[in-house]
Amino acid sequence: MNSEGEDWLRKRRRVQPVFVSERIDQHAPMICQATVDWIRNWPADALIDVHSEMSRLALSVAVAQIVGQKLDDVDAVRDSVRAIMRLTATPVRLPAWIPSKTNRSLRRSLGHLDASLDRLIDNCSDGSSRGYVLDHLIQGHPAPSRAEMKDELATLLMSGYETTADALTWIVYLLGTHPAVLARASHEVRTAGSNIHDHQPYLAAVVKESMRLYPPAWLTTRETVAQVRFGDYELPAGTTVTVSQWVTHRDERWFPSPEEFLPERWLSPPAWPRYAYFPFGGGPRACIGATMATREIELILRTLLSNNHLEVVHPERVKIRPALALQPQNVRARLRATQFVQSEALA
Ligand code: HEM
Repeated sequence: MNSEGEDWLRKRRRVQPVFVSERIDQHAPMICQATVDWIRNWPADALIDVHSEMSRLALSVAVAQIVGQKLDDVDAVRDSVRAIMRLTATPVRLPAWIPSKTNRSLRRSLGHLDASLDRLIDNCSDGSSRGYVLDHLIQGHPAPSRAEMKDELATLLMSGYETTADALTWIVYLLGTHPAVLARASHEVRTAGSNIHDHQPYLAAVVKESMRLYPPAWLTTRETVAQVRFGDYELPAGTTVTVSQWVTHRDERWFPSPEEFLPERWLSPPAWPRYAYFPFGGGPRACIGATMATREIELILRTLLSNNHLEVVHPERVKIRPALALQPQNVRARLRATQFVQSEALA
């Protein structure tokens, strides 16, 4: 995330093989099973904090996809990552040596994360390659130091799982507040064949439309490297330019009735300009995990909707927290197992 130039390119190329779609497809059964196990953990009819639950699921799935291991201390790692991210979003920070409450808590979080990453690396050092990120790092020439490996892992986990959890939570909120969309998506899921690799166009449209309205990455900045003209503006080199997915995705030139949640618009989309929609950024620094995240989100939703009825409780209390990512707050839902009857769905 923070590397530049040659160093960035070398690191990106090193982990790229983990993100190709054939490899991602291999994880599909694991993602569906993780979702089933996750749902089973809830007491029947329990009211759940969707964001918190989605974070736990997304973190375990991310570790399984990136490192090929099961994370024993999901909650502790999630809390550590959250504390670190909270701090990076704090505008005023005391120097690290001051033993303030925040600094002490940050040190604890860093210590915990560090120990967890050490364990993941140790478990993977037997020399066998299964094609996960750590295998590519360990077998690299030159092999990175342990500190560098931990940095790489932390970057991938941090950039990957929270955004995915945000996206999933916004989707649940939107489905819960749009019964007709929920019914159509559930119908598609329940009447599909058993092949989890089959494309489900309406579900895919729901995911795209949700990330249009609530893009987890809602703001992107770039620095101009040379003088450049944008419309009427002449920008000198070294200018910071901010583009917002939130604003662009609501431009009615491309998206009529932009505030409305209309997955149908994605079923036969017109030729929109390339960057009218960019939830995963664009250019060489675009999200390396875009395909992985999209596939994961679709599979989790598919599993969730296949035999559960979803009810969002008190949607009026939901709030948006525009931090580093666009975080949903107070999304509470209840899942009820449904006995699916084919003729009902087709009625
Ligand atoms: C819905 C989920 C996700 C969203 C919305 C998202 C969004 C983004 C965006 C907008 C960028 C570009 C930032 C910029 O232009 O400055 C980015 C970069 C990145 N993302 Fe994602 N991301 C998601 C999931 C993931 C996943 C699952 C992973 C990995 C497991 C991941 C890893 C990364 C990395 C490593 C970068 C930096 C790429 C580079 O600088 O070369 N992301 N992401």
